[in-house]
Amino acid sequence: MRLKKLYRRHLRYPLWRLTHPLAPYEQYYAWVVTRKLKRGQAHPAIGPAAKAARGEEEMLKVLRKRGLRPQHVFVDYGCGSLRLGKPIVAFLEPGRFWGLDLAQEFLDEGIRHIGPDLDRAKRPNLRVIDETGLAAAKAARPDFIGAWHVCGKIPDRILDGFFRKVLGLMHAGTQVFLQFEDSGRREQLHGLAWSLPEEMMIAAVKRVDPQLKIDIFELSSRRHRDMRYLCAHVRY
Ligand SMILES: C[S@@+](CC[C@H](N)C(=O)[O-])C[C@H]1O[C@@H](n2cnc3c(N)ncnc32)[C@H](O)[C@@H]1O
Repeated sequence: MRLKKLYRRHLRYPLWRLTHPLAPYEQYYAWVVTRKLKRGQAHPAIGPAAKAARGEEEMLKVLRKRGLRPQHVFVDYGCGSLRLGKPIVAFLEPGRFWGLDLAQEFLDEGIRHIGPDLDRAKRPNLRVIDETGLAAAKAARPDFIGAWHVCGKIPDRILDGFFRKVLGLMHAGTQVFLQFEDSGRREQLHGLAWSLPEEMMIAAVKRVDPQLKIDIFELSSRRHRDMRYLCAHVRY
């Protein structure tokens, strides 16, 4: 294993932990990414160099096919810098878009990404994920929630807490779409990402509430290194 890879996978987190013994894991994720952005290094998903591998409309297309309309309230959970959120902000009526993420820096990048005209016209609600941000998004009574390229960033130790937070935003009529990647087993893909086997996703959702219905469908039949590109549709 190359030294850099070894550091990212096995050393970076325990070393950070030594100086942050009580901090939540989410703070570590935000620290790794903001440090990269501050150094001017390109991040594939967040900030000025972000690119949407399957096109920026991917999430919007899935949601529209499942009934999203301009008057609906939508939460982009783990929205990053709105790489996939921007066309949804444009599609929805003003004030209907909610973007939630771990760090204000990512949301600020999101505002830069959509630009002042769209920001002024559509007034997206962008909040950090904390008690206040979650309560505000829940009070908006989302019709749809989407999380793209987020579930694979969640390690075992915070998996249940993560699903409790996302699914805790639902009301009886909310539809949730959770994109994830499944290589057939739980394995670390890089320093901050894991494969999430389908059955692990289903079990995690059911632990939040056994009454939730969950259907898994393929977002693309094209496989990269035997990885299935999937989406979980969760609803009551
Ligand atoms: C690869 S980026 C994807 C961003 C955006 N969804 C997109 O597709 O452009 C992963 C995002 O998940 C967020 N994230 C990571 N861990 C999270 C957690 N525990 N709870 C909520 N969001 C998280 C990150 O801050 C980051 O913005």
